[in-house]
Amino acid sequence: MAWPLSYTLTLLTLILLQSKPSPVAAQNSSNISVGQSLTANINGSKWLSPSGDFAFGFHQLPITGNLFLLAIWYANYPDTIVWHANDGNPVPQGSSVKITANEGLVLTDPQGTILWNISDEIYGDSGWVSYGFMNDTGNFALKGSSNSIPIWQSFDHPTDTLLPGQSLELGKMIKSRLSDTNYTMGRFQYHLTLDRTMAQFIRDLSTGYIYGAYHTSDPGNEGQAQRYVYNESGHMYILRKDGSMYNMLPDGYSPSQDQYQRLIMSSDGILIWYSAPKARNRGGWSRFQVVPSNLCMEKAERNLGIGLCGSNSMCTIGGNHALMCTCPQGYSLTDPNVQYGGCKPDFKLQICDDNAERSMKGEYSLVQLQNTDFVYNDYEMVNSKSEEDCKSSCLEDCFCAAASFSGDDSGCLKKKAPLFNGRKHSSINQSFWIKVGNVNMSNDPFVTNLLVTRKRKMTTPIKVLFGGSVSVNLLLLIAFGIFLIYDKKQPKESNESQRKTLSEYNHVHYFSYQELNEATNGFKEELGRGAFGVVYKGMVNGGGPSIYVAVKKLDRISSDTDEEFKTEVNVIGQTHHKNLVQLVGFCKEGDQRLLVYEYMSNGSLADYLFGDMRPSWIDRVQIAQGTATGLLYLHEECSTQIIHCDIKPQNILLDEYHNARISDFGLAKLLVLNQTHTNTAIRGTKGYVAPEWFRNKPVTVKVDVYSFGVLLLEIICCRKSVCMELVEEEAAILTDWAFDCYLSNKLDLLVNDDMEALKDMIRLKRFVLVALWCIQEDPSLRPTMRTVTQMLDGLAEVPNNPPCPSSFSVTTQY
Ligand SMILES: *[C@@H]1O[C@H](CO)[C@@H](O)[C@H](O)[C@H]1NC(C)=O
Ligand SMILES: *[C@@H]1O[C@H](CO)[C@@H](O)[C@H](O)[C@H]1NC(C)=O
Ligand SMILES: *[C@@H]1O[C@H](CO)[C@@H](O)[C@H](O)[C@H]1NC(C)=O
Ligand SMILES: *[C@@H]1O[C@H](CO)[C@@H](O)[C@H](O)[C@H]1NC(C)=O
Ligand SMILES: *[C@@H]1O[C@H](CO)[C@@H](O)[C@H](O)[C@H]1NC(C)=O
Ligand SMILES: *[C@@H]1O[C@H](CO)[C@@H](O)[C@H](O)[C@H]1NC(C)=O
Ligand SMILES: *[C@@H]1O[C@H](CO)[C@@H](O)[C@H](O)[C@H]1NC(C)=O
Repeated sequence: MAWPLSYTLTLLTLILLQSKPSPVAAQNSSNISVGQSLTANINGSKWLSPSGDFAFGFHQLPITGNLFLLAIWYANYPDTIVWHANDGNPVPQGSSVKITANEGLVLTDPQGTILWNISDEIYGDSGWVSYGFMNDTGNFALKGSSNSIPIWQSFDHPTDTLLPGQSLELGKMIKSRLSDTNYTMGRFQYHLTLDRTMAQFIRDLSTGYIYGAYHTSDPGNEGQAQRYVYNESGHMYILRKDGSMYNMLPDGYSPSQDQYQRLIMSSDGILIWYSAPKARNRGGWSRFQVVPSNLCMEKAERNLGIGLCGSNSMCTIGGNHALMCTCPQGYSLTDPNVQYGGCKPDFKLQICDDNAERSMKGEYSLVQLQNTDFVYNDYEMVNSKSEEDCKSSCLEDCFCAAASFSGDDSGCLKKKAPLFNGRKHSSINQSFWIKVGNVNMSNDPFVTNLLVTRKRKMTTPIKVLFGGSVSVNLLLLIAFGIFLIYDKKQPKESNESQRKTLSEYNHVHYFSYQELNEATNGFKEELGRGAFGVVYKGMVNGGGPSIYVAVKKLDRISSDTDEEFKTEVNVIGQTHHKNLVQLVGFCKEGDQRLLVYEYMSNGSLADYLFGDMRPSWIDRVQIAQGTATGLLYLHEECSTQIIHCDIKPQNILLDEYHNARISDFGLAKLLVLNQTHTNTAIRGTKGYVAPEWFRNKPVTVKVDVYSFGVLLLEIICCRKSVCMELVEEEAAILTDWAFDCYLSNKLDLLVNDDMEALKDMIRLKRFVLVALWCIQEDPSLRPTMRTVTQMLDGLAEVPNNPPCPSSFSVTTQY
């Protein structure tokens, strides 16, 4: 039997591949010439130093699975990485690194895209790289053909570790990784300052801003340092300008040549000196020095930003000198996943307004914290004779967030919010109290004092219930029920006159015009213009953290719609759905009517769909489904049915996760129009308006279904519903063209050969069919939004052969 040639060839190739020496063996103890490369895979390929102490290559990250970090590590301690490339970002399996003459080192992903190179870091333009060398010192160097000085070396670009033979000059630093497993840049760094002091610094993760030093090396000789030396025999010192040295190692410590040594800037902010026997089987890493030994008790500088733990958080030292942050009672982590991110109150912080005096009586109390202090928050020193004096002074002061009392000169210190530089240590010997609210309101950042007042008032009827006979109670219960219903619908006027307007509005925060003027910086940044007026970007603080908002200044509101405005704001304020833009508050002052919404960071669907980049099919599918779900909620699931009347891509916004969020709902009734003939007063936008608007037929939720159908086609095709500039005239009106394409089975034209969509043909067809049913001229033929969502999700059958849709609305001028 003759073997097919191709089979033989394959076999031959396999044999050849297997006999090819592994890269490790090929270069052991020698130069790595230009053109050689390593590939990231499970068993790791690496270049070893001649002695076999250090390895350069792809290190598989333990937790993340098939992700690899290009790094240098101890061959005997493979988990101890001393240098890493690509800013600590791991790469997928199959990525490779290559030594090239021009770029030095080039890291590419499996598709060959360049992820990282060192062309910026190569000295001068004279030297072209001729070979690489993994030195026994742990230094990976690239050398030119003639020059013995490396063109590039890893020792010049330290990450979080310093090795013997490596030193830090001005401009060099070691910087912590984010966590044990995430090698991207963390919060701490150690470097020589411009004014010649070696010190440890904290860095703001979001802005990159470097705050002041929290620990200084060689105290008393600030400004004298020249460089930081870790010499090859393992001695470490600061070389001062005058030539003298400051020993960084413990007195009497003498480095052994049988030991590896390293210094690391840990992700906890401490410098740690480690040593380990060079032979693997003789033990592991041990710490022989840690600096500072108690991070929390370092002299706090005023310029430490929000401190080591963030606002309202307390610093303590745990096992192994690790930094720990804890929240005081009544506070919880601002971001539950970030231990250093500070703490937020679970209650509404006291505000110094007219209600402050009333709220002082019972709404806040002081909780004592042992061995605690918050440094640099003091705003007033009170001459208190006793702890009791100090406590009541803080309790009665709406600015006071905490207070400390000690027997000595400093006496009673009142501290303001938010609290910074919190620390806890057995040596802190004073009485300390923090003010906490007695009402837990963490769930709603916009709860107003009014709600508290109302909660209180309701206790009266409840108390009555527990006295008297059963039958009386029953009667009372019924009466109470009615009271509740009444109370909900028509909240009683609050006693406070300044809250009067507010009491007419449930669930919605009231802003004064002045507040919104400040929040938007004088209505400076315009986000867009819609049917109702201009929208501005702003930032408000609802007692919790500040949030971005979009402030809509309504200008087409008729003056006699006061009642309607009130009704509509209440209706809108009661809607809560993940696919709706949430109303945050409103303002009604004189002629001004403003609505305050959540800010949507990714703009409108119109910009997304019709922009330069065609959004991915899967993104578009999710946006279509999200919009449908939001509309379903407006039509059927919220307490008052809302017909949007103006569904179009400009009114669908995208939040930070690209979720579709419907905006401008509930406003249709407010538009200045001929109020007597509601049906003929067309509200909506040309191209999306259902035919019944023109036919004097009743307007129902089906007008939104029609507009949704048009929108769905736009989402499918990434083009506008009417596009007169098109070469193919028959394609100008999207609804007609889509129907034609459907009839002639040419859906590829519709999606402009979008491969992603064509691969998903069953869904594509279903979406087009749903759209064609939505844009039927006869409203009764259009599905409800509930059916639409089920059909889009594939949970309901979509009938075939929809009748030819009407193109009435787009061809009729009005
Ligand atoms: C490495 O390359 C340099 C320069 O070409 C050469 O001098 C040296 O002998 C080489 N070393 C080894 C071990 O091949
Ligand atoms: C990794 O190495 C082990 C033993 O050294 C071997 O059994 C295994 O097949 C290798 N895996 C891969 C993916 O090369
Ligand atoms: C190498 O990286 C630099 C930025 O560090 C980049 O500008 C350059 O395009 C890269 N070179 C190649 C060949 O990709
Ligand atoms: C390795 O490092 C030592 C010490 O710095 C140095 O003397 C030697 O030249 C280096 N070897 C190569 C091949 O660069
Ligand atoms: C490391 O943390 C950064 C910032 O939080 C994150 O963007 C990145 O995905 C993380 N990397 C890994 C491998 O987890
Ligand atoms: C390292 O520094 C120590 C202390 O100054 C010195 O005794 C030793 O000779 C130095 N070793 C090297 C290799 O320079
Ligand atoms: C307040 O509510 C938050 C979140 O709902 C909870 O974690 C916290 O324990 C509550 N605090 C008090 C004092 O009840």
